[in-house]
Amino acid sequence: MRGALLRAGRQALAARAAVAVQGASTGRLFATEASSSGGGSNTGLLVFGGLGLAGGLIFAQQQGYLSGLFQKESHIPLPPKKDYDKVRAAIEDALDKDDYDDGSYGPVLVRLAWHASGSYDKASNTGGSNGATMRFDPERKFGANAGLEVARDLLEPIKKKFDWITYADLWTLAGAVAIEAMGGPTIPWRPGRSDKLENEGCPPDGRLPDGDKGAPHLRDIFYRMGFNDQEIVALSGAHALGRCHADRSGWINPWTNAPTTFSNAYFTELRDNKWTKKKWSGPPQYEDPTGTLMMLPTDMVLIWDKKFKPYVMKYAQDEESFFKDFAAAFSRLLELGVPFDEPGKPAPA
Ligand code: HEM
Repeated sequence: MRGALLRAGRQALAARAAVAVQGASTGRLFATEASSSGGGSNTGLLVFGGLGLAGGLIFAQQQGYLSGLFQKESHIPLPPKKDYDKVRAAIEDALDKDDYDDGSYGPVLVRLAWHASGSYDKASNTGGSNGATMRFDPERKFGANAGLEVARDLLEPIKKKFDWITYADLWTLAGAVAIEAMGGPTIPWRPGRSDKLENEGCPPDGRLPDGDKGAPHLRDIFYRMGFNDQEIVALSGAHALGRCHADRSGWINPWTNAPTTFSNAYFTELRDNKWTKKKWSGPPQYEDPTGTLMMLPTDMVLIWDKKFKPYVMKYAQDEESFFKDFAAAFSRLLELGVPFDEPGKPAPA
């Protein structure tokens, strides 16, 4: 029994050392490093091991056999705000590019931050932006993530220049900076995410929404993350930005006429335009009378569903309330499942 325990202890120690080395390579260690077993604390390990094992572990720990395994890693403070401001400036500098899409990488950066975070499952506390697992197969090859290599590649030189920042922090910060640079609200954002190792696993496929589905699907997906109807509508307002690409999702065209400006135009278009089903052989989508703007079936659901619709009308009429609600929901999205040192502490503005 004791031999098996020690072997298990050594294996766990080796695994944690690997994480620590990875942390050290980015200049940081985390006292609350998350793993799927929640093994960062005594309590997590004891629960994980089951009752019989727990008794043995307590004995072994009391005997000092597991010292080191249970010690929290030494804590290196995160860099000061001014260092993150330099990263912010570098992201802003990288946004505009005349010959890319509508002239800005901002929208695809917002989509990267959202897809990195929207894999979160509240019930199992898995997925989410912590870990930046979209660097790895199979997540980077998930159909929902098609095209996001554009955003990841854009950020790579910034990651190289500021090698102390984690991918997980960089991707989410880039989404926040892009929203702000395109005229949107200030997104409360704070650092503290860590990067997982390749063998630590990706969330399963299918956690992000499918654009060709109805209201029950939208609710299934977003309730799983912990959002409510109002937040689903507010978050969807990000489709003021960017466009669909035939070679990424199969859909085409932008939602609004100003796809590099963050505004409530998505809601005014939904409310005021006449949307008809596009006649084509591609996936189902809706078009305005000019045929230049589009809505996904999941966008149309927001005016068809009687619980979603009041929020569409409210945000179409009142941009300020949209900005406020979007900032709160997007900030929360970027933090889902992130084991900050001080959970519950509001993110600094
Ligand atoms: C409500 C369910 C959602 C569905 C079904 C959905 C689906 C899609 C699809 C199919 C695209 C086109 C991808 C492409 O072809 O390049 C897209 C783009 C985009 N989505 Fe969503 N999305 C949803 C929610 C969100 C949320 C919550 C956000 C952010 C808060 C967001 C932000 C974006 C942005 C900014 C783009 C434009 C990307 C670009 O221009 O490259 N979406 N979305």
